[in-house]
Amino acid sequence: MHCVRKVTDDLTWVGASDRRLALFENIHPIPEGVSYNSYVLMDQQTVLFDAADWSVGPQFLENVAFVLGDRPLDVMVINHMEPDHAATLGELILRYPDVKIICTAKAAMFMQQYEFDTADRVDIVKEGDTRCFGKHTVTFVIAPMVHWPEVMVTYDVTDGILFSADAFGSFKALDGKLFNDEVDYDRNWIDENRRYYTNIVGKYGPQVQKLLGKASGLDIKMICPVHGLIWRSDFAYLLDKYQKWSTYEPEEQAVMVAYASMYGHTESAANIIAQKLVERGVTNVVMYDVSKTDKSQLISETFRVSHVILASVTYNLGIFPPMHDFLMDMKALNLQNRTVALIENGTWACKVGALMRKELESMKKMNVLEADVTMTSTLKNETEMDALADTIAADMKK
Ligand code: FEO
Repeated sequence: MHCVRKVTDDLTWVGASDRRLALFENIHPIPEGVSYNSYVLMDQQTVLFDAADWSVGPQFLENVAFVLGDRPLDVMVINHMEPDHAATLGELILRYPDVKIICTAKAAMFMQQYEFDTADRVDIVKEGDTRCFGKHTVTFVIAPMVHWPEVMVTYDVTDGILFSADAFGSFKALDGKLFNDEVDYDRNWIDENRRYYTNIVGKYGPQVQKLLGKASGLDIKMICPVHGLIWRSDFAYLLDKYQKWSTYEPEEQAVMVAYASMYGHTESAANIIAQKLVERGVTNVVMYDVSKTDKSQLISETFRVSHVILASVTYNLGIFPPMHDFLMDMKALNLQNRTVALIENGTWACKVGALMRKELESMKKMNVLEADVTMTSTLKNETEMDALADTIAADMKK
């Protein structure tokens, strides 16, 4: 049975949600699922904007067929070739053999790499090109690295709708809702939106900035991403988040204490520094055990907060592996512009502070506080901790 929803009189959402998939891109947990959004425009020509992952293929294809009725699919606009959207391209071509595909030159190349039979049906477009489907005219805005190099977004000039590919998307399945004004976004969606953005697109802040600049010149009435909810109000809220995330500006004056502890002694130190901060009036503090918290969540929180305290045990004279993985992800995702404090522990030898500092100092605009707290197996006195708490509390008041 089809499951579709009208977006406008001419445009229908034909996507689907996946709640079975454990790992998005086989790496990021999605306990609340994910949606793959596609849209059919019924004009003089019929147009499909992006496709869907194979995991929701049967539902998606049934949706497309239902909306088309007895008409063929004339055009596909493929903004992004990552298989979570393009995997069903081959099946669509089999079902609609006369369909033309509008995409960038690089997307056409990727279609060949994925061995889709597209060579003689591709209509390659560039920045600013337009196509008219009848009542609706669209223009194309190239958006490389948001999130792959072939990406473009498509703007429906007639209705002011931006088909934004991965941009403005989010993890989380759709619970019957489709529009941002049908949910309490700040309570129920923003954390999964942030975790999606930071882990999928977080590395490409400058490219997102370019897209935001281009989009600011468009009269946008609705944003239709390929994951998550459609935005038709409160653009300022969303743009403020994107502005901060893409410039690596913290969202909040807040402290994240991420600790790596084998037998509880480093965890104890993490608890003590958190408590000392709260006693000094810094109450916006969160704590994470890096051994038990998925890296995608650690990364997401690191983008949110202004101050990070890393507390780690020394392991085989190196950085405890989950903490090392976290640091490598921070570096890979281009995280910058944070104030970081270090607490190190070691029983044989305390090496981890210097090693973490070296990694952090190789990242951009990281303010790594000078005074590390050093523990030998256990914390013996509170002097260094008090000094660190004083320093962070004072820094947060700046
Ligand atoms: Fe949702 Fe980059 O694909």
